[in-house]
Amino acid sequence: CGIIGYTGTTQNVGDVLLTGLSGLEYRGYDSAGLAVSNGSLSVHKREGDVSGLETALSDRSLSGNAGIGHTRWSTHGPPSDTNAHPHTDCDGTVAVVHNGIIENYQSLRTELEEEGHTLESETDTEVIPHLIERALTTGAGHDEAFRRAIDRLEGSYAVAAVFTGDEAVYATRNESPLVLGVGSDGYYLASDVPAFIEYTDNVVYLADGEFVRINPSGFVVTDEQGVIVDTAVETVDWDPEDAGKSGHEHYMLKEIYEQPTAIRKCLRERVSEMEESITVEELSDLGTLERDGPVQFVACGTSFHAALYGARLLREQGIHAQCFRASEYAAESVPIHSGTVVIGVTQSGETADTMSALRTANKAGASTVTVTNVVGSSAARECDHVMYIRAGPEIGVAATKTFASQQVALTLLTSALTGSASLDTIKRLRTLPDQLQRVLDESTAREIAMEYVDADSYFFIGRGYNAPVALEGALKMKEITYKHAEGFAGGELKHGPLALVTEASPVFAMATGENHVEKMLGNINEVEARGAPVVAVTDSPATLSQYADHVLEVPDAGPRLTSVLANVQLQLVSYWVANELGRSIDKPRHLAKSVTVE
Ligand code: G6P
Repeated sequence: CGIIGYTGTTQNVGDVLLTGLSGLEYRGYDSAGLAVSNGSLSVHKREGDVSGLETALSDRSLSGNAGIGHTRWSTHGPPSDTNAHPHTDCDGTVAVVHNGIIENYQSLRTELEEEGHTLESETDTEVIPHLIERALTTGAGHDEAFRRAIDRLEGSYAVAAVFTGDEAVYATRNESPLVLGVGSDGYYLASDVPAFIEYTDNVVYLADGEFVRINPSGFVVTDEQGVIVDTAVETVDWDPEDAGKSGHEHYMLKEIYEQPTAIRKCLRERVSEMEESITVEELSDLGTLERDGPVQFVACGTSFHAALYGARLLREQGIHAQCFRASEYAAESVPIHSGTVVIGVTQSGETADTMSALRTANKAGASTVTVTNVVGSSAARECDHVMYIRAGPEIGVAATKTFASQQVALTLLTSALTGSASLDTIKRLRTLPDQLQRVLDESTAREIAMEYVDADSYFFIGRGYNAPVALEGALKMKEITYKHAEGFAGGELKHGPLALVTEASPVFAMATGENHVEKMLGNINEVEARGAPVVAVTDSPATLSQYADHVLEVPDAGPRLTSVLANVQLQLVSYWVANELGRSIDKPRHLAKSVTVE
């Protein structure tokens, strides 16, 4: 879910909230709502996306000095007008938006109902305005009532509230993101910076347990005891353009095309050809990794595929590196000791499963590192070391440029932490953005997508560094086309999944680098014998065109980095299939970009 709050005198509060919600839609889009305080409280909310809310409100003037808004990804209670946020108390004195999970909401609800409160929705959030109401009836002021309500909550939350007849917005966080925007014309609160980047790039990253009150003339941040906290206002280096579509039909396509730039930014000041060295300043006090480390990667979704790639890189340097799905990490009883390095790969830095794994590692005394895109994110705050991938904002729910940037960042991390930088790696890294640009300029992925748009299933196979990319290719296809897709290490197909291969299931086979081409040819023969069309993604087009039905060519970027380029071809295929099918590419059904519940 995404939350936004605003207070100020120059902007129209309704416009700011709706703009903010559009900028946060990647966090959830099954319902949306807002509340504006202007003497009384006007609350508008409905099932559906932000544009639906905007249309419904088009003939209303939402003026006032303070307001909050919410875009929802349902956890408790299905999408509906009633379950949409904001939620209010019995007599409409306070409106609340919330991101996260209130674990003890059932017992709070029972308690409140026994006292005569009527709760209308099935959400966990609705207990909050009623708790506030209860505190108000005992004489507490707005600030005090808000604190008392929060004090009763267990779980993860970012909460914002507005009251009737009050120009302030009250907010706090615990294990869910909340950023304060400091503008010249007002103050903003949001789950993430793109919500208000159009208005200000000055931000304060709030910490867990901090409370903030904003009103048109200023802001104050306090700790749990109410003591004022000194805050640092930082400037983010995103420009508002970054958060727009720059003429592309979808954010996803824009972000695919941004990959050369994203990689250049990731490399900047970290790679020196003259000195033949790779340094990641942020990780310098981690020293050199011990051979038997061990290093454990934890991640989810696309980031998990990048982590598989990273673990391979480290193992190649003799480091004992393993990779775990973050959601299973605690359950797997993985041995952790003080020499263990745990690396959480997470674009958002907020994924609850990844955060939970990192917290487990922190508690057990491991040294924790995060490779993330979001400055000030929970992962960045809570890990001992942070490496930023510098991909810029990614709005499309399906991760694209952040995956490429993660692959490059993990290449840098491996070289820096194992002292294995070579001139060859440096040269290849430097050439990669131009090679990627060539792939984008010359790709025939769109024609191939048209050819197979009606397929029943899509299979992706690759060996070595292409094996994680096969998984990623299939994930991307599923996420945005809603079609069945699976990815396998090349040798695995014959151990069962081959039974699913038919003439209606094209197989995308990544065959790059001398070592793997030969073995992939064997796998290609296996699927062709079952009648499946084969699309080879390869740096050896002359050889592969003799075997495959189609070839998607990639330049040779060496045994590891060629997989970055192969993945870009697969991103484009999925995009064009989804586009032809008319799918909601940037906001696929049931998904959210940043899943802040376990
Ligand atoms: C969600 C998204 C995926 C993403 C995963 C991990 O499930 O839908 O696209 O890969 O979270 O996100 P992270 O921010 O941790 O990289």
